[in-house]
Amino acid sequence: MVSRVIPVETFDLVIFGGTGDLARRKILPGLFRRFRSGQMPEGSRIIGAARSEIDSDGYRAMIAEAIAEFGGDEASDSDSLAAFLATLDYVAIDAKGDGGWADLAQKVRSDVVQAFYFSVAPSLFGDLAERLHSHKIATPDSRIVVEKPFGRDLDTARALNAVLSTHFNEDQIYRIDHYLGKETVQNLMAVRFGNVLFEPLWNNHYVDHIQITVAETVSVAGRGSYYDKSGAMRDMVQNHLMQLLCLIAMEPPSRFGADEVRDEKLKVIRALQPVAPHHIVRGQYDAGPDGPSYRNDAENPRSFTESFVALKCHIANWRWAGVPFYLRTGKRMKARSSEITVVFKDLGHTIFEGDTARHRNILSIRLQPNEGMDLQVTIKEPGPGGMRLIDVPLDMTFADALGADAEEVTDAYERLIMDVIRGNQTLFMRGDEVEAAWRWTDPIIQGWEARNDVPKLYDAGSTGPEDAMMLLHRDGRKWREVKG
Ligand code: BG6
Repeated sequence: MVSRVIPVETFDLVIFGGTGDLARRKILPGLFRRFRSGQMPEGSRIIGAARSEIDSDGYRAMIAEAIAEFGGDEASDSDSLAAFLATLDYVAIDAKGDGGWADLAQKVRSDVVQAFYFSVAPSLFGDLAERLHSHKIATPDSRIVVEKPFGRDLDTARALNAVLSTHFNEDQIYRIDHYLGKETVQNLMAVRFGNVLFEPLWNNHYVDHIQITVAETVSVAGRGSYYDKSGAMRDMVQNHLMQLLCLIAMEPPSRFGADEVRDEKLKVIRALQPVAPHHIVRGQYDAGPDGPSYRNDAENPRSFTESFVALKCHIANWRWAGVPFYLRTGKRMKARSSEITVVFKDLGHTIFEGDTARHRNILSIRLQPNEGMDLQVTIKEPGPGGMRLIDVPLDMTFADALGADAEEVTDAYERLIMDVIRGNQTLFMRGDEVEAAWRWTDPIIQGWEARNDVPKLYDAGSTGPEDAMMLLHRDGRKWREVKG
């Protein structure tokens, strides 16, 4: 059997914010899985850096606990865990002062791949970048990894880009959007550009409209103070949904290279038309039988922040002119379900007399859960009695098709961190892409602020406010059912 683990070079990975939530929930459990699969070469080291005055043993104990809690079944492999913990080190560091930096400089080697993960508030990016340089730790080959939120509008994103670019070149900066690391999101590109079947139909001659839904059942409880200043538009649409839109709508890149792919995505964002206020619906979840209201979760009784957005937008280019893209995302919805649906146009003429029903081919790509695709096709209803047509799904659930291999699908963070070590930026956002996304999002948010827009309440456990249904009904269309 061919090994699916592609080795990377020996590395030193420094995680600033190494004791934080993301490090404990995602980054370190993900690295442990890569370690177990044999992808972390011997001699590689992970150095946690944070304010807490703990020593390396204290850090190892903390991470052992985190892996036990968030690492799934693999955490029970105690031999591997012990070997993994031995690769960990820790430095107590002061991002805004000089404490700990000399210690860090001693630990980070210059003859291996160096990556610095800024898992900290964006307000510290500048301080970290500056000190990595003034303490002569970073080299021209070092990589830095930054998380969303990358700014809260165009100005703040520009300022962050400027701060980072003072010390690092664009090809050293890895801006994470974890949706790009999801297996099925990458499958979007494989489906589009690896098959001859779809591409000829992928345009306004054959596509009626496209829907992108990212529905979540979770509330904002526990992260209300961040979320209430953000809302669904900044938290999900500007980044995750925008990336999905780009992958579904972009032109074929000449090769699967970082700049080729990102150039094409950027063209999509730049071609997005402004969204008219009546083409967008904001919602906020109300209390339901199994949970409190958004305002309660956010601990802000007067909050006008949206936990749901549905919108219709257009891409002004030859391929997509006239094809609406409907996007929707929300918290506390009926089911956890992310799906992209391409609804093809009706047949121009039917030869089947007496068949008055509307038959449409619909391709839906399920991102999560039950990753897979189905294609609705029209066939003859079995049995005698003439030509009666029915629509049936050709269903391909990847887990069924791929068997045991599908279960090994790597988590988005694992894949993305290994891409950083490999120096592959294809699945990371470039600075100009992020800015272009804010340039499109800003006027929408500013419009709400100027109008003191009040989000429509929706029942927790529903599919969002009634107005979101109307957005499509007005156009003679309907949303796909949200089902997990
Ligand atoms: C994060 C958002 O970026 O993505 C969260 O901040 C959201 O609000 C999460 O819940 C969704 O990610 P996933 O992988 O669970 O779909």
